[in-house]
Amino acid sequence: MTRCIAFHSYKGGTGKTTIASNLASMLAAKGYRVALLDFDVYAPSMQAYFDYLPRKWINDLLSDNAEVNDVMIDTTSIVEKYAKGSMNKDGRLWIGYSNSKKEEVYKLEGDAGKPNAKLQILRKFMHLREELISEFESDFIIIDTSPGIRYWSINSLAIADTLFLTLKFGDLDIEGTKKMASDMYGSFTRFGAKSYLLLNRVAGYCIPHSVGSAHSISSEMQQNDELDSLSREVGMELISAIPCYCDIQFKRKEFLTVLEFPEHPFAKQLEELAANKQIKV
Ligand SMILES: Nc1ncnc2c1ncn2[C@@H]1O[C@H](COP(=O)(O)OP(=O)(O)O)[C@@H](O)[C@H]1O
Ligand SMILES: [Mg+2]
Repeated sequence: MTRCIAFHSYKGGTGKTTIASNLASMLAAKGYRVALLDFDVYAPSMQAYFDYLPRKWINDLLSDNAEVNDVMIDTTSIVEKYAKGSMNKDGRLWIGYSNSKKEEVYKLEGDAGKPNAKLQILRKFMHLREELISEFESDFIIIDTSPGIRYWSINSLAIADTLFLTLKFGDLDIEGTKKMASDMYGSFTRFGAKSYLLLNRVAGYCIPHSVGSAHSISSEMQQNDELDSLSREVGMELISAIPCYCDIQFKRKEFLTVLEFPEHPFAKQLEELAANKQIKV
């Protein structure tokens, strides 16, 4: 069975790309076949984590200038490089990169505005999903989306079976998030998709990663009343609450924590997330 997970949020900067990239590379290193898609077409940032300059982009697929095979780049060697010998040889990672050039983003918007284009584009999303399942035999399809109720995120959520609404702790727009969750997610969950709240950058646990056990921190947080009431307020089950780590926040360059520092509590948090029965395959 293939699990298709989309990371979405009401606002930007909640950690979607960080968590999607780290989770995808962790699963690939464990031996799964993983396809990671950058559908944050307005602010693509997958290259910050997986340094690669593709010849063909997701944009080309959407504008009929490329096939799925051309845009899904085999980046397994990047995972291997960072995993330093601990990669399971069955693991694969393919990434579909989005082009950050302004003119490419405008072009995509222009194409989507053409008559009947919306249905065609939704079909392309569905075709992409089908190929990643049947041709690539992927165990996981992980999608990074644009924040808010954007056309591209709606399509991404439509092809996913598991939706993660990512919230940055402390900078919450509960009302907006709640409204978005009920307006938008309701239509997907009615047809069988599951949606969960994923809190990130939870404050108050900013400790050096060599101190304390990730498990006790996380179970402590799960019991935290504030988190429970937040999940009740948004009306979604909380799947994980990831603390804010200063070394991740203040590093000038993004990095794949799970591979570079597998003992880091952030990596442990993602291990727990991956082991959750809701997302295990
Ligand atoms: N748990 C965390 N602790 C500290 N910094 C984090 C954490 N998760 C993400 N960040 C940082 O927050 C910033 C925004 O994350 P990003 O993944 O780009 O958000 P989004 O994709 O939702 O816009 C990045 O600089 C990232 O390194
Ligand atoms: Mg992002």
